[in-house]
Amino acid sequence: MRTQVAIVGAGPAGLFLAHLLFREGIDCVVLEARSRAHIEGRVRAGVLEQGTVDLMHELGLAERMRRECMIDNTLDIRFRDGLIHLDLPGLAGGKCATIYGQQEVVKDLVAARLADGAPLAFDAEVIGLDAIESATPTVRYRQNGDAKTLACDIVAGCDGFHGICRDAIPSGALTIYDRIFPFGWLGILSESPPIREMTYVNHTRGFALCSRRSPRISRLYVQVAADESPDRWPDERFWDELRTRLGEGGGELVTGRIFQKGVTPVRSFVAAPMRHGRLFLAGDAAHIVPPTGAKGLNLAVADVRVLARALAEFFRTGKSARLERYSDTCLKRVWKTVRYSTYMTNLLHRFEQATPFERQLQQAELAYVAGSRTGQAMIAENYVGLPFEEE
Ligand code: APR
Ligand code: PHB
Repeated sequence: MRTQVAIVGAGPAGLFLAHLLFREGIDCVVLEARSRAHIEGRVRAGVLEQGTVDLMHELGLAERMRRECMIDNTLDIRFRDGLIHLDLPGLAGGKCATIYGQQEVVKDLVAARLADGAPLAFDAEVIGLDAIESATPTVRYRQNGDAKTLACDIVAGCDGFHGICRDAIPSGALTIYDRIFPFGWLGILSESPPIREMTYVNHTRGFALCSRRSPRISRLYVQVAADESPDRWPDERFWDELRTRLGEGGGELVTGRIFQKGVTPVRSFVAAPMRHGRLFLAGDAAHIVPPTGAKGLNLAVADVRVLARALAEFFRTGKSARLERYSDTCLKRVWKTVRYSTYMTNLLHRFEQATPFERQLQQAELAYVAGSRTGQAMIAENYVGLPFEEE
């Protein structure tokens, strides 16, 4: 089998790239290790930047989102001394955030790709890449017990943080930047009406976050130990802890049946460059950010927009100038997003090892933001999404 672009992984990065290339008339095959049900059921964040929403519209993929999404015009931060209420459009040039679960985005992109009759293989696990430094790389994969090969011009490594594409780059050619925070997030989904505003909480017992998926489904998180087991959190304990951390805001909390529970690590990781020969990494395969700010999916979208444009130039004209700039262009925005996600993480979490000096600084930062339109505008501008990088 042969194609122009072999896309490894059908997460947001791989699926958005496939749709962007389809629009450009470039052939690609998407190979996904897991089943359709698995990738459509995976619970992740659900905050879309304006640029991500615009791209869904541009690609004609926004019909269900338009009906089912919720618009976030505000963001609240609760802390010891009060409440910071951010009016997002007022602070960020009219922009807002959109709540629509990542797995809903994935469902819509999968359905549209299959409706296009375009190649997307599930249960097709890529086990190796060959000749990525040549003009004719190949991808080895396993499907239904059979070993298969896909020849291509370009490999797009969209296989997430635990994928295999990043490892195909010789370690001497890659610089890894890594920071693991000493805590995790216990996240739940519950059948209960969410509190009105997206609410981030800095409490002496730890961070908490109240988000939502629909008018009837809440998405809630509390900071826990990095190696915490969800089994140690029976439903009652979760509700009690969240209510305590919400303080005065706890009165609004409505409990309900919890139907999903899991622990998310809090980590930054950047692999640079995002390209080696004919292999281009995009999304979590190249970088992850702490969940504070919900930037993972949006960063993946920003990468593949740059990649699709560069590939369009390459296949149309044979010129590779944009492909040469791909990694640098993406990394500029990646690092700004690492900066923002780290800022929010530092601002809002309980750091067990923090000195009294550092604790005072954290409260002073919150007090500064509470009293400064500039401080609030910085948070809002990043939350709704920085502009795509100039290419
Ligand atoms: N062969 C084929 N597919 C693979 C392989 C492999 N060897 N290894 C991993 N995959 C698939 C995974 O099963 C997954 O469906 O690649 C996909 C990667 O998807 P994501 O992990 O969702 O990564 P990405 O598309 O970059 O999306 C970034 O999604 O992962 C979240 O937190 C992340 O929100 C961020 C966004
Ligand atoms: C979510 O809705 O899952 C979510 C919202 C905001 C975040 C992280 C996750 O910062």
